[in-house]
Amino acid sequence: MSFRSMVAGIGHYLPKNCVKNADLPAHLNTSDEWIRERTGITQRFLASADETTAFMAANAATLALKMAGIDASSIDAIVLATTTPDNGFPATATRVQALIGAHKAFAFDVQAVCSGFVYALAVADNFIKAGQAKTVLLIGAEAMSRLIDWNDRGTCVLFGDGAAALVLTATELATPKLDGSTSATFHSANTNNAKLHSAKERGVLSTHLFSDGSGYDLLYVDPSIETPSKRGGVVMHGREIFKSAVKKIGEAVEKALIANNLTVTDIDWFVPHQANERIIKGVIDHFYLPPEKVVVTVDKHANTSAASIPLALCAAVNDGRIKPGQLVLIEAMGGGLTWASSIIRW
Ligand code: ACO
Repeated sequence: MSFRSMVAGIGHYLPKNCVKNADLPAHLNTSDEWIRERTGITQRFLASADETTAFMAANAATLALKMAGIDASSIDAIVLATTTPDNGFPATATRVQALIGAHKAFAFDVQAVCSGFVYALAVADNFIKAGQAKTVLLIGAEAMSRLIDWNDRGTCVLFGDGAAALVLTATELATPKLDGSTSATFHSANTNNAKLHSAKERGVLSTHLFSDGSGYDLLYVDPSIETPSKRGGVVMHGREIFKSAVKKIGEAVEKALIANNLTVTDIDWFVPHQANERIIKGVIDHFYLPPEKVVVTVDKHANTSAASIPLALCAAVNDGRIKPGQLVLIEAMGGGLTWASSIIRW
């Protein structure tokens, strides 16, 4: 029996405190104009002490389960992508499990910084394809503001907090799996075959994951930097990351399209990681993607790391843009360096 992971529900949580560029502390010596021009960001949501990563994740999960019409007690696994867990251990996912009452689930976190959501999606999808889980709660949740030095204008203006969750359910493939020549397994990639998605079956069609540890020092947490979490602060060599971002994201997008025998014109919605409007523009220009097919939320949410893609997906589902049966291409790049892509038939 072959299974595919279908998106059955989605939900999100944004902190109550919305901070506009103009509301940022005066000592930062920044401006609305600088932030908008360089990043497209106009505001961000910042979590209060009570709005922990687990709290935000559990709220998002509750809405996703409601949309899916699934009770928390039916969840087999919780996979939570975060780079800002509430504690070094145990995994924040276990706290979410307790908060929502997912008694029979196994729960753990995935850490791949801004690529975390796509990495976690790949993990969840593989559990479903292997038949080890039928219902997976997949979450991207971040309290990036706790890892930020609020005296460093180069980083603190860029990040925001929030969470979004997807419920993935196993759907049995109507078409029997073809032989190895069409059901390809790539290095760091997992792909269903083109024949199957030509049948317009819904679900995760592919995931492609990449890492290059030689970029480790371009974006990391320095434990000596004072931050609200007392766990150190983000150091980012933004210009260097910016330079390679479009190339690396382009590589991931191309792999996803080729593996599924698709072209950009087949894609209904492009939902990129929301780090910077200029990076998104670079990618859409590279692929001649029509801007009206691109979901952009960086202006409202800023960079919420592993939460950025599911938050953007949720925004586009809730406002009626993403509809069942449409092809959605997602991509991300972040610390590690890591980068990744996936195509989902919603
Ligand atoms: N307000 C005003 N001036 C500022 C600010 C600010 N908030 N921040 C920096 N500046 C100044 C700098 O001090 C510098 O001044 P100087 O020329 O006098 O030295 C000048 O602006 C230019 O600084 P740069 O850092 O070179 O600016 P750049 O054009 O590269 O933009 C940015 C910075 C927005 C960070 C950009 O490099 C970027 O987006 N990089 C990619 C970020 C990214 O995608 N990260 C990966 C994902 S994040 C993750 O994985 C967690």
